[in-house]
Amino acid sequence: MRAILPQRRPDCVIIHPVFSYRHAFHAGNHADVLKHVVLVALLAHFRRKDAPFLVVDTHAGAGMYALHEGFAAQRAEFRDGIARLWSRRDAPEAVAAWLAAVARHNPGGVLRHYPGSPMLAFDALREQDRLRLFELHPTEYRVLEAQFARLPRGDARRVRIERIDGFVGIKAVLPPASRRALVLVDPPYEDKHDYGRVVAALREALRRFANGCYAIWYPQVRRREAATLAGTLERWPGLRWLNIALSVARPPAGGFGLHGSGVFVVNPPFGLEASMRTALPYLVDALAQDSSAHWSLHGHEAAVN
Ligand SMILES: C[S@@+](CC[C@H](N)C(=O)[O-])C[C@H]1O[C@@H](n2cnc3c(N)ncnc32)[C@H](O)[C@@H]1O
Repeated sequence: MRAILPQRRPDCVIIHPVFSYRHAFHAGNHADVLKHVVLVALLAHFRRKDAPFLVVDTHAGAGMYALHEGFAAQRAEFRDGIARLWSRRDAPEAVAAWLAAVARHNPGGVLRHYPGSPMLAFDALREQDRLRLFELHPTEYRVLEAQFARLPRGDARRVRIERIDGFVGIKAVLPPASRRALVLVDPPYEDKHDYGRVVAALREALRRFANGCYAIWYPQVRRREAATLAGTLERWPGLRWLNIALSVARPPAGGFGLHGSGVFVVNPPFGLEASMRTALPYLVDALAQDSSAHWSLHGHEAAVN
């Protein structure tokens, strides 16, 4: 007996959100600036002790972006991000440390490339540290793999890249043998289910490794789920957290435009709050797109079980 298959309209192509998002369009924009300033500050904290640490990037992206070619050049969002800060010599410590990390990939002083979170994390690793990267998009995965394929064998040994769902992959890597881990959770949120999946993944991650440091990036967009995510995390019982946010413009009247973003850090290291308190006003001043630009910093110091 022949199965009767549903008819598909020939002009109807459904693109799954995972495959429609390309981070290159946004590389180096104001949201990348905030996320990567926080990431570099957290990595510096982990390097302070000799004990090995693991970095996990659940949504890694392509790893490196050429700013004047392809997708990144099309919208040139970096012009209102890294480009506004690139030549500044008056940056506070946390911003200066991130600028120095970007400069390592731009020898000669001309801004051409923007390193994504995998590269920033890799640059901070020492011999004893490890990096696990998850990326689901086939093209982004291939580019990411190619970036790291250039490394000498010894360096490559410290990095493992997998084309799997980061929300699933995170479970297998926690707790780390080293008992020190920094986990960046940075989904595209094009699929509104990402908001719920972040909360579920954090719950599972904390069950496996309560002492890990988790940095969760979230967008400020006109969407109900986006407005409630940070509140949900802030009300989490018994959690120690720091919510770092930067709005660069007033919310657009229509549409889903990104007018700011935040990084919700679970188990923030000592010193992060103080460094962000200096960095955020500077970032508002440099990245403001209108007079409503502002920053916020909230924290809760409850003991972690
Ligand atoms: C915001 S970008 C990552 C940017 C990167 N973390 C950085 O800061 O440079 C999100 C990435 O997640 C990928 N992605 C989407 N859903 C995923 C999933 N469930 N698991 C792993 N990767 C996913 C997308 O293809 C995209 O490259």
